[in-house]
Amino acid sequence: MIPTLEWTQEGVRLLDQRLLPARTEYLLCRDVPEVAAGIRDMVVRGAPAIGVTAAMGVALGVKQSRAADLPAMQRELDAICSTLQATRPTAVNLAWALDRMRACFQSAGREPFDRGRIAARLEQEALAVYAEDIAINQAIGRHGAVLMPEQGRVLTHCNAGALATAGYGTALGVIRAAVAQGKKLEIFADETRPYLQGARLTVWELLQDGIPARLITDSMAGHFLHHGGIRAVVVGADRIAANGDVANKIGTYSVAVLARENQVPFYVAAPVSTLDLSLASGEQIPIEERSPEEVTHFQGAPVAPAGVPAANPAFDVTPSRYVTAIITEHGVARAPFEPALKALAGKSRSAGRAVRFRDC
Ligand code: MRU
Repeated sequence: MIPTLEWTQEGVRLLDQRLLPARTEYLLCRDVPEVAAGIRDMVVRGAPAIGVTAAMGVALGVKQSRAADLPAMQRELDAICSTLQATRPTAVNLAWALDRMRACFQSAGREPFDRGRIAARLEQEALAVYAEDIAINQAIGRHGAVLMPEQGRVLTHCNAGALATAGYGTALGVIRAAVAQGKKLEIFADETRPYLQGARLTVWELLQDGIPARLITDSMAGHFLHHGGIRAVVVGADRIAANGDVANKIGTYSVAVLARENQVPFYVAAPVSTLDLSLASGEQIPIEERSPEEVTHFQGAPVAPAGVPAANPAFDVTPSRYVTAIITEHGVARAPFEPALKALAGKSRSAGRAVRFRDC
């Protein structure tokens, strides 16, 4: 797979996912407003990829700082984080990455003020977030692969692949790992209206890897779950509440209910950074409302009568009772989700402490 995003000395280089699958072009974001625009305008998308991009955005902003002392630099950091946080509200990985960069700044700020040294530490931290994300996805893949059938059809919704992460993917990471183990899977990918992440990105990614993929419209999912021999569903997540409710791409909830109706296991694959244990349930997860034009138009051409009001919530919440298991880098959580997720988050905290003590 070609890289989703890269740190360069000139700025953050993003694969422009708006142009896929027709063109593979990169957009160089040279400052924080450009990085923020890249996230907001979906040049880069997918919860972990947004988090990694935000971490690089902070490193870039601090590198360009001309602050004369630590308090001035702290004010700049606060402004950078607010700009990046305001881009997309649902994926908690964004806030997680900003918190991690803030923690790194605090730690670097304990030594005598040196702009270049602080910038270098933040750059190192952003690169660590990037590298760790790939390793985390590979671990998710290892934990999830055993849950996939030996052979048969697996359905996914949206794109939770290499393109949605620093590499390898979460839901598609599980699929990649299962296929690498020799499992004979055929992936059914929902097209994912209105933004078509399934049609434009997921099947593109799978075909590049030589994994058999079949594109279906969202409204076909029920039919194939009922009659089409789908053996499992695996999707990603943008935020998971303490009780295991899952926010993911709009349409995920319908797939989960249909999977339950047809006794098909419904798996969610996500890093621990997608857990938001401060929220008791999914009802508190903010849902991004995007432009109605994404619904009324396709590539600039109208597909609905002019002026018709349209709704466009980008995500929905699947209650945890429909979730068979949540696959993370530290293991698999099943109901009751609250203690299981708390335990997995605890494992992540101890691992994170060890890393930060060494690096930042
Ligand atoms: O609006 P998007 O394309 O950013 O939404 C992406 C999703 O909903 C993904 O399923 C989720 O972020 C998990 S990506 C590993």
